[in-house]
Amino acid sequence: MPPAPEIDWESLVVAAEEARGKACAEWSGYRVGAALLAEDGSVHAAPNVELSIPALGTCAERNALVGAVAAGRRRFRALAVVTDSSPPAFPCGACRQALVDFVPAEGDLPVLAANARGERRRTRLSALLPEAFRLGEHRHPVATGQGRRAGR
Ligand code: THU
Repeated sequence: MPPAPEIDWESLVVAAEEARGKACAEWSGYRVGAALLAEDGSVHAAPNVELSIPALGTCAERNALVGAVAAGRRRFRALAVVTDSSPPAFPCGACRQALVDFVPAEGDLPVLAANARGERRRTRLSALLPEAFRLGEHRHPVATGQGRRAGR
């Protein structure tokens, strides 16, 4: 297999910035855009969407993830997040956990946080969420037939 092409971080940032322009952030005033690069090269971007019931709002990263999955993509090469934070903000804990479900245990997801001032921070999902919960590795012993009830 030919090596995967280099990640075009700047165009991923542009896609996240464009999505950020659509943010619904009436409650917090904090506008976020996220763009996921899928393994097939397609880009799936979304903003944060806050709602009348504040607890129902969703982050840009999870919105991008759900959009990508709805478009039939489940494997990703990179994530860019744009805010106007300085330093640029990485995804929240809930989004980190959501992303883990779409990154194979033996793989990783490079993450870039950016802002409009040109500041950039790079990391990887495994660094943002070490020892992540993966259901396949932690099924309840009873549910998997390994527990006390299995011997009855
Ligand atoms: N938010 C995101 O979209 N992504 C993050 O990683 C952090 C927070 C959103 C949620 C909410 O709409 C606003 O930013 C303030 O928390």
